[in-house]
Amino acid sequence: HTHRIAVIPGDGIGKEVVPEGVKVLEAAASTFDFTLDFERFDYANAEYYAQHGKMLPENWFDQLVGFDSIFFGAVGWPDTVPDHVSLWGSLLQFRRHFDQYVSLRPVKLLPGVTSPLVGREPGDIDFYVVRENTEGEYSSVGGKIFEGTERETVMQETVMTRTGVDRILKYAFDLAQTRPKKHLTSATKSNGISISMPYWDTRVEAMAARYEDVRVDKFHIDILAANFVLHPDWFDVVVGSNLFGDILSDLGPACTGTIGIAPSGNINPERRFPSLFEPVHGSAPDIAGRGIANPIGQIWSASMMLEHLGETEAAAGILDAVGAVLARGGASLTPDMGGQATTAGLGDEIVTQLTGE
Ligand code: NAI
Ligand code: MG
Repeated sequence: HTHRIAVIPGDGIGKEVVPEGVKVLEAAASTFDFTLDFERFDYANAEYYAQHGKMLPENWFDQLVGFDSIFFGAVGWPDTVPDHVSLWGSLLQFRRHFDQYVSLRPVKLLPGVTSPLVGREPGDIDFYVVRENTEGEYSSVGGKIFEGTERETVMQETVMTRTGVDRILKYAFDLAQTRPKKHLTSATKSNGISISMPYWDTRVEAMAARYEDVRVDKFHIDILAANFVLHPDWFDVVVGSNLFGDILSDLGPACTGTIGIAPSGNINPERRFPSLFEPVHGSAPDIAGRGIANPIGQIWSASMMLEHLGETEAAAGILDAVGAVLARGGASLTPDMGGQATTAGLGDEIVTQLTGE
């Protein structure tokens, strides 16, 4: 089977970690016997913007829509392009036009990584945050009146559609059903937000009726955030609206180590459009060009991409290799994890571990 992958390194350390991800993907393909067909696109970066005054060519959609997935690094180079321009001009266009309505982030403590939560061991923290990525609190419905006066008033509405809520819940319940604990937690705030959040709760109840084997609970977002820190072992799949999911999907990975290792998926579950896999971190201008960026966030994202493409064994193989190298620790890690390795050196080490050579 051949999977077609569009590779977009982007800016800064994106250009350094993406080649490591591709290297590991190539090793996984030959070890687990499938084919990856890569095509690289040199847009969605500051050089392209400097030349063309925009982040993407007019025909980007047609160029990318036929791929099975997009393997993305990071975009942003504030010296050349304002951050809202680089983000809205590229990544957010992909998310919207390719209807990537699921933002998926694993929150998993890997061996060898010290959690900032005192006393937590690998195995204690292993869950997913599923964020609704297209509607909810991040709507463009609203406005300002009486601007510049004492009566200045600003409003922004939350928009929840039945289709939008049900499809993210269905994704989260389906995911919960594949996991040993089969446990889903819903993030809500129906005590304070009296229209949209009670609606969310009723849709959770309606969906739960279709998944009798999944255990369901819900927490208000404030205490849920506290419980991520106090009781991360309580969670298996956590689903939230756009805003709540956004907050939880940074808090979760922060509980499991450095930003350099956290991965994410922007997923169109129906596969009508390509999904996009990228590390959680950005382009890190402060360390870019020195060859010391941690490639693990990108490599773990590669594992998530293979999972999405149905290459389950290879996906698990990559994550096991990352875990084994992390567990050995020491000098083979990059400086952000206390080692002395280069980006490419750590990538090589993971390839060697994966291929057993
Ligand atoms: P950042 O994630 O790029 O960096 C934050 C801090 O973490 C920096 O000190 C950096 O050196 C460190 N860091 C990040 N990734 C690392 C890695 N792999 N290994 C070692 N250290 C690492 O976030 P920041 O500085 O807020 O943003 C920089 C640029 O990246 C901005 O232009 C921003 O808009 C963009 N950005 C893009 C994202 C994306 O493409 N999805 C996500 C976040 C930020
Ligand atoms: Mg965020």
